[in-house]
Amino acid sequence: MISGKLEKALNKQLNMELFSAYLYAAMAAYFEHKNLNGFANWMRIQAREEMGHATKFYTYIHDIGGRVELEAIAKPPVDYKSPLAVFEDSRAHEGTVTKAIYQLMDLALAESHHATSTFLQWFVTEQVEEEKVADDIVKRLQLVAASPEGMFMMDRELAQRTFAPEPGAEDAT
Ligand SMILES: [Fe+2]
Ligand SMILES: [Fe+2]
Repeated sequence: MISGKLEKALNKQLNMELFSAYLYAAMAAYFEHKNLNGFANWMRIQAREEMGHATKFYTYIHDIGGRVELEAIAKPPVDYKSPLAVFEDSRAHEGTVTKAIYQLMDLALAESHHATSTFLQWFVTEQVEEEKVADDIVKRLQLVAASPEGMFMMDRELAQRTFAPEPGAEDAT
C-alpha cells in the first residue's frame, strides 16, 4: 500500500522519464537534420534508456498496488544554437532529474516506505552516471567546437554507442 501523495509523486516521476525520452528523441531529430548521424545515434539510444526508466516506474507503481495515471508530455525544443548547446541542455536536464529523484527519495523516507527508497536507489546511482556522461561530452565539445575535424571525429565516436537494456527496463522496441 502507498499513500495518495506517494502515488502522485511516483506518477509525476514517470511523466518526467517519458518527457526525458521525448526530449532526447527531439535532440536526435535535431542531429539527424544536421546530418550528424553519430550524435543522432547517441541521442536515440539515450531516448530508449529513458523509456526504460519510465517502464521501471510504470511497473513499480503497479507492483505496490498503485494506479498509473499518464499525463500529457510537454513539447521539447526543436532547435538549438549548436551541438554544444544540445549537450549543455541535456546536462542541465539531468541535474533537474537528479533533484526530482532526491525529492522523491525524501518523501519515501518521510513516509518510511522502504520498498520505494530501495527502488529509488537504482535511480540515485544512475543519475551520477547520467550527469557524468553529459558533463564529459560537454567538456569534449568545448574543446572541439571550432574544429570541423574534431566534430567529425566525435560524430564517429558517438556512432559506436549501442543499446544495452537494463533488467526490468526493457521497452517494446
Ligand atoms: Fe531517466
Ligand atoms: Fe537521464
